[in-house]
Amino acid sequence: MNKSQQNASIAVIQFMTKPLTSFLSILFLVASIAVANSPDRAAIASAHPMATQAGQEIFEQGGNAFDAAVAIAAALAVVEPQSSGLGGGAFFLLHVAESGRQVFVDAREVAPAAATADMYLQENGDPIPRASVIGPLAAGIPGQPAGLAHLAQKYGRLPLAESLAPAIRYAEQGIVANVRMLAGLRFRRKTYDRWPAFGKVFYPDGEIPEPGAVIKQPDLMNTLKRLAADGFDGFYRGETARLLVDGSRASGGIWSRDDLAGYRIVEREPVAGEINGVRIISAPPPSSGGITLINMLNILQGFDFATMDSATRKHLTIEAMRRAFRDRAEYLGDPDFVTVPVERLVSPLYAAGQRASIRLDKATSSDALPGIGPAGKGDQTTHFSVIDSEGNRVAGTMSINLWYGSGFMAPGTGVIFNNEMDDFSIKPGVLNSYDLVGTAVNSIEPGKRPLSSMTPTFLESDRGVAILGTPGGSRIITMVLQAAMAWMNGADANEMVSLKRFHHQFYPDVVVYEEGALTAEEQQGLQQRGHQLKKSPRAYGNMNVVTWDAESGKVDAATDPRGISEGRVY
Ligand code: GLY
Repeated sequence: MNKSQQNASIAVIQFMTKPLTSFLSILFLVASIAVANSPDRAAIASAHPMATQAGQEIFEQGGNAFDAAVAIAAALAVVEPQSSGLGGGAFFLLHVAESGRQVFVDAREVAPAAATADMYLQENGDPIPRASVIGPLAAGIPGQPAGLAHLAQKYGRLPLAESLAPAIRYAEQGIVANVRMLAGLRFRRKTYDRWPAFGKVFYPDGEIPEPGAVIKQPDLMNTLKRLAADGFDGFYRGETARLLVDGSRASGGIWSRDDLAGYRIVEREPVAGEINGVRIISAPPPSSGGITLINMLNILQGFDFATMDSATRKHLTIEAMRRAFRDRAEYLGDPDFVTVPVERLVSPLYAAGQRASIRLDKATSSDALPGIGPAGKGDQTTHFSVIDSEGNRVAGTMSINLWYGSGFMAPGTGVIFNNEMDDFSIKPGVLNSYDLVGTAVNSIEPGKRPLSSMTPTFLESDRGVAILGTPGGSRIITMVLQAAMAWMNGADANEMVSLKRFHHQFYPDVVVYEEGALTAEEQQGLQQRGHQLKKSPRAYGNMNVVTWDAESGKVDAATDPRGISEGRVY
């Protein structure tokens, strides 16, 4: 792509973020951007230095941001096995610089054909304890391998095999156990020996390895090699598919060869909104992330924060969270199965109605909002952000759900099965692992995608671009909200990832906050209004942000200080 095409696509973005600007000033804008701006450098922010390194290698081999995304995602499957992997799902938000097209690649898991709405319930209707989180029955049909093959084939410049090469090398040579991996292994300790293939890799002597131990994944290496050689068919058909299905069924799972062969990624329109000249492009259903994010921002844009003290600002932010998460439970599910009123939920007019119900001096009890029946945690999942020197970008969020997914690995594959079925509502009113309440719109049906909170997002304005996202279950959305608001107020990438966080999700009716997120005065102001506060026992999230400043052309990359990685600009 030549520079003028690239600049034209940038101009399109600027035009969209400035709908009220006069025609003359738009012309000026286009001209000035054409002269001043291009991200002549690439940048990556991911959760692991080896994944970032994998992306860099691919840039050095002539790959674009989409090839780098394949390399980073595949490497994370090996070096951060507690968070994502070939046995899980992924969302990739893409910006194609040449055309200006923004597309959302939905590689989310789907329920197997043999799944039923009541598969995790006892005869008396009570949930079977842990059935939706432990073992192969908890796993949806994985989407990430199909997503990687699709990115490489449709958007990349390099063959899939080249982009997978770093991950294959890491699986063969081994990775050094780090503190986050080991924390995940402690979490999984009780069930690790129920499925020996998993235990053999991650508890080699029947114990949690020492920090610094080298963990090799030869079966995963072979699975990656088959994917590299044959693309989609190398995972969803043939030897890998046989091993996955045999392994699943031998241990109580319900996957079939047809489930795997029939898996399809879906390209969807991202959801978009605009607040004060900043365009928000984010994840559509089956993620709840983009709609909930835009809804919260729409509610908040009607308040004049500049005239308010910080306790009032935080109170209003919490009230926006409460209302948007209520609607999440009521309306959101897989759009291929249920009708989701997307336009209404992202409309500023709808948000104005929600805003009108907020009092400045008093918290609304969640029970007082229109009811959906009685009704998170963490660092599970992973996110990376990448931009190349031409302006192509990817915000990718991938997951196997809880740490090490379901704890099940099919023998001979190295593939850890997700437990994403727990993101369905297994029964209206029953909470999932993130304490999220659900309704029938997110009930289990064969082939349906469970509702997600993953929120890969672009922010675009005159100022430039931010590419962001994070792991953290239901808290993902409020982390992205806070980082987006910070960017709108001038924060840089490092400030965005470092922000102290707070969260409310309708039920439970509690504000969870990190140490340092609320000053004593703010805590008092919130409590006086009736908010119940709960300090998180530890910091949460692992946000990765890349920014591009339109005026200077400067590219920046920042990783979360809570994680173990660092951003790189090339
Ligand atoms: N499994 C986490 C999510 O998709 O929200």
